[in-house]
Amino acid sequence: MNPDEQGNSAQQAQRKLPDNHRNMAWVLLQKYGLVGSLRVLWRDVAWDYFHRVDTAKPVSNTELFNKADAVERNRYVATTFEAFDSALGYLAPRVNFSDGNFVDVGSGKGKVLIAASQYPFRRVKGLEASAVLNQIALRNLTTLGLEATVTATCGDAANIIVDEDDLVFYLFNPFTGAVLEECLQRIANASRERKRYLVYVNPTEHAVYQRYFKLMDTRIFQPGNVEINFYETP
Ligand SMILES: C[S@@+](CC[C@H](N)C(=O)[O-])C[C@H]1O[C@@H](n2cnc3c(N)ncnc32)[C@H](O)[C@@H]1O
Repeated sequence: MNPDEQGNSAQQAQRKLPDNHRNMAWVLLQKYGLVGSLRVLWRDVAWDYFHRVDTAKPVSNTELFNKADAVERNRYVATTFEAFDSALGYLAPRVNFSDGNFVDVGSGKGKVLIAASQYPFRRVKGLEASAVLNQIALRNLTTLGLEATVTATCGDAANIIVDEDDLVFYLFNPFTGAVLEECLQRIANASRERKRYLVYVNPTEHAVYQRYFKLMDTRIFQPGNVEINFYETP
């Protein structure tokens, strides 16, 4: 990483662009350990190979967005199936999934959309700022025969339109700054009549979220010490 290019201090750049330019094998080993890495390789990386899709490979935000946008928009890295199932396992006794929609805000290549399609939500929807990633998501959904039941839309989360039925919002630390404020404000504004839930993975911006939503719980899931905050609207 070249912090000068970002116009930021080294620490700020590292925080905003996590792992973007580090060797992924090394990141995996550090995060998951040897056994955990093998699990991820089998359950997520090999899964792509056997299903002829592309979801697991990360993409740096500087490849996806122009320099100015990349300051607030984070890279693509996929949630593991295990972490996703753990998160929904936490919510399942508290939320009736069939009461509404699941929305992945920053849906990338559609990995979480694929995983969420296994749960009884009314609809599964994704919103992704990168047209390149969204094309890959659409291709993945078609390959898996999910194109009729799952929608993946290209757009900026700062302009998110919240539907009456949207119930669970999933955010794997997709963005920060003004985009985050705008997006959370829109979800909060739409929540006066209906209760909504947020699943926030890698919650570095918790201070912002808690201005809009009530924290239900913070959980750490294995493998990988995946930290997830759960919020509800008041
Ligand atoms: C960490 S990835 C998460 C991908 C997916 N949700 C998952 O968990 O597997 C964050 C995603 O948010 C997208 N993103 C960043 N800024 C965005 C914005 N303003 N609007 C919509 N998507 C955005 C990135 O392009 C990236 O695909």
